[in-house]
Parts: sequence; structure tokens; C-alpha cells
Amino acid sequence: MAKVTIDGIEIEVPDGTTILNAARMIGGKIVPPAMCYYSKLKHTGGYCRTCLVKVVQGSAKDPRPMPKLMVSCSTTVQDGMVVQNITSPDVLEARKGVVEFLLINHPLDCPICDQAGECKLQDLGYEHGLEKTRYEFKRRTFEMIDIGDKIKLHMTRCILCYRCVRVAEQLTDQRVHGVMNRGDVAEISTYISNVMDKDFSGNVIDVCPVGALTDRTARFRSRIWYTKPMDAHRDCKKCCGKVTLWMKGEEIIKVSARFDKNNEVENFICNECRFDKKKKEDWVIEKPTHIAHHSVISANHYENGKELKMGHHHLEQLNAVTPPAKDKNMLPPPKTK
Ligand code: SF4
Ligand code: FES
Repeated sequence: MAKVTIDGIEIEVPDGTTILNAARMIGGKIVPPAMCYYSKLKHTGGYCRTCLVKVVQGSAKDPRPMPKLMVSCSTTVQDGMVVQNITSPDVLEARKGVVEFLLINHPLDCPICDQAGECKLQDLGYEHGLEKTRYEFKRRTFEMIDIGDKIKLHMTRCILCYRCVRVAEQLTDQRVHGVMNRGDVAEISTYISNVMDKDFSGNVIDVCPVGALTDRTARFRSRIWYTKPMDAHRDCKKCCGKVTLWMKGEEIIKVSARFDKNNEVENFICNECRFDKKKKEDWVIEKPTHIAHHSVISANHYENGKELKMGHHHLEQLNAVTPPAKDKNMLPPPKTK
């Protein structure tokens, strides 16, 4: 076991734990953001640099600080290590720069992007980004392509995190796409005319942090924050059959895997559950989904009728300053002359 202190909070973790995972064990605001690391997939991390932290003491044996900011998703803790994340102005400044780099080629098309509301880059930009870009050159643009009849690739939005490549490598029978070329001409592409129709390939949609890979069976059917996420399950022979249904009234707009507090998939689901089971009768609906991670989709979302999730406020706190919300249908009609 190793004792590590992150932003002043000490925790004991098994040897070999990364700084990021130690921070996740503590939880809360001190957890560094991660745009490419994915704990449910092997060989992820090390691409995006959003998880940089400052190691002010390497270990109890060798207390020298590490000379550069370290990538927390792939740096393991040492006994006696002291780490700064949100308590280090250097880290916060560097993170702003990383966000600026990630946004260099990213189109700011959130108003028309189907991922808006679920986009990790949107959250990251909001929390750590600058108000304006200093970039004056032409951005990379690509034509949108259909990779198979269920998935749309909009490469212009891709941040090259490699998560979708790992999903295809580790969950499907055969990987038929990857990152072609390198540097500023790198792009996600399928091999010639192959399509991504292997079972479990739909999980690329859930792991993609931006709107580069979206579900063609759900695109533009609704803004995600107008839907009500419900936990549901079915008896599936291929996967766990446990999903979130994104519903609008009786209609199932989209089926996704369930997400944990780090906004990572809990259990990967098969393509049949994701794409082919869009009727309410296909599912046993359990309860409203608990949105544990910070996201606009948790706003105005009632669970068990007790708590209005809106940032970090609770209903009681809101009630102290706001009169209780009224059912819109109960409001008197507007006065007319
Ligand atoms: S398409 Fe999405 S998941 Fe794949 S590399 Fe690009 S950003 Fe990452
Ligand atoms: S999450 Fe660590 S480098 Fe991307």
C-alpha cells in the first residue's frame, strides 16, 4: 500500500494505482479531468494531457519534486507522494492551454451538434477553457461519413483520444477502423469500404468524448436535456442487458449503456440492445437514472421526487431563495386585455 496526498487529502491506495485513480477514490473536485483515459478499457490514456498534475514531493524516500507536470492517468503513486491538482495555479494554467490545443481544430458547432449536453469537451471547455480562441488559421475539416448503417463519423470533431479504437480492438470480433496518418493529418478512418457493423461496435458512441461518433438511429431526434433517462433491463444473451433509455414521453429516443460517477460506461452493451430494441415493451423499466457526474443533463432532473439536481444545489437550498416551482399546466393563463 502507498500513502499519497492529493490537494491536501491523504489516502492509502494499493501499490501500482495511478494518481488519477487515487484521486477518483477520494472523489469530488480534486479529480483531474480525463478525455482519453478510460478505466474500462486497456491501454488508454497518455494522449490528451488534460489530466496533468504537479508532483511536489516524489515519495517519502526521495522527496524531490518532479520537474515537470505529470500525466496523472499513467503516473503511479509512490509512498509519501504529494500531488497538487486544483491547488496548483501552474496546473490550472497548463490545463487552460491543453483545452486551447484541443479546441484548435474542433468546430465550435455545439448549437447543431447532437452530442451537446453529453459532450465532455463542452464541459471541459466550460470549466477550464478561455473565452476566446487565439487561433487564426483554417481548421481541419472533413466530410461526414456513415460507418455502417448505425454510426455517423464526423471527423472534424474528433480529438484523437483513441478510445473508439480500443473499443473496436477489445470488444468486437475484428477492428475495422483506426487512426490513419499522424500529426496534423491524423484521422479516424475505416479500412477502404469496411463498415463498423461488428457486434459491440456501438460502444464507440458511448466512449467518444465529443460528437465525432453518433448514433444514426437517434441523431437529431431530441436535445438530450429534453429526454428523461430511465434505467431498464432485458434478458439479453449477448450482454448484461442493463441500459439507460433516453425517453420522451412513451418514445425511446436513444439506448445507451449506463454510466458511472466518472462518466464511464458501467457495462458495455451489444448492438441489438442499443439499436434494435426501441419499443417500451422490449424493456423492463426500473427507475429514473441517477446522473452521478456533473452534466447539464442532471439539471432539472427529478429522482424519486425528492431532489432537484442542479449543479451542487439541493432542493431545500433552492427553496430558501426561490419559491417552489409550479406545474406549468397549473399556472393561470396569461392576462389579456
Ligand atoms: S472518434 Fe471519438 S472516440 Fe474516436 S478518437 Fe475521435 S474523439 Fe476519440
Ligand atoms: S486522460 Fe491522461 S492523458 Fe488523457
